[in-house]
Amino acid sequence: MIVPANVDPSGPRSPGAVGASAPRTAGAVADHPGRGVVSFVRRSPRMNLSQHRAMDDLAPRYLIDVPRADMSTSVAPGTRIDLAERFGRRAPLAVEIGSGVGDSLVAMAGARPDMNVLAFEVYAPAIASTMGKLDRAGVRNVRLVAADGTEGLRELVGTAALAELWTLFPDPWPKKRHRKRRLVNQVFAELVADRLEDGGLWRLATDWADYAEQMTEVLGSSPLFANRYPDLPGGWAPRGDRPVTRFERRGMEAGRTIRDLVWARVPR
Ligand SMILES: C[S@@+](CC[C@H](N)C(=O)[O-])C[C@H]1O[C@@H](n2cnc3c(N)ncnc32)[C@H](O)[C@@H]1O
Repeated sequence: MIVPANVDPSGPRSPGAVGASAPRTAGAVADHPGRGVVSFVRRSPRMNLSQHRAMDDLAPRYLIDVPRADMSTSVAPGTRIDLAERFGRRAPLAVEIGSGVGDSLVAMAGARPDMNVLAFEVYAPAIASTMGKLDRAGVRNVRLVAADGTEGLRELVGTAALAELWTLFPDPWPKKRHRKRRLVNQVFAELVADRLEDGGLWRLATDWADYAEQMTEVLGSSPLFANRYPDLPGGWAPRGDRPVTRFERRGMEAGRTIRDLVWARVPR
């Protein structure tokens, strides 16, 4: 059985479904030693039978294992992977960070058979569920990496090698003291700007109003990005072909407004 060593079993246990809208912190959240603040907490990798089966049967097709550094969710600095070889072809590359149980990934990658789609997710059971869904839907243009997507983007994707980045409903970290954990910030945006090709698109969505504002501030204050929908109210984008995921549904049920953003890399 292949189980990615991506979650420290001694980390906080969080029963129930994968990835609640607000991450379960199970007490104090510890930053990764020597690597600064990260956007996730380590969770128990308990998998059910079908997830174990998916890992056994489907990892060879979908999962890219990577060398690790200090943490089991890390990507060792200097790692080089021939993505074209792993996908079996050269094609425009889209990356999703935080693909969760894969509902957006399966639909959006399936609708883009001409793209290679590389997804990063830190939670092993979610990766297993995603592989099962990809297989059942017959989607073959996806590869998954069980690792921190920030490190993955930095180590595995070259400058201007990325056609699209998807960060859909990233963990909102709604408490003020946790906001430094949010994935979308100035430093991350600089990395994205480097990896996106000229005109490449960054698609974002959130159901948290202040995170949507933060995303707009981060992107709007950078000369490297331009809003694709400046004339729509608030500069928000149409939702496009994203399916409604459980996070979006939960946000709507709680009365929150869903915001989509699509910003393009300004030509170099
Ligand atoms: C709120 S869920 C949203 C999942 C999915 N995008 C959706 O819309 O259904 C956020 C997911 O991002 C993952 N995550 C958070 N930070 C991450 C990171 N730096 N790299 C990879 N995955 C991350 C979490 O484990 C969780 O599954």
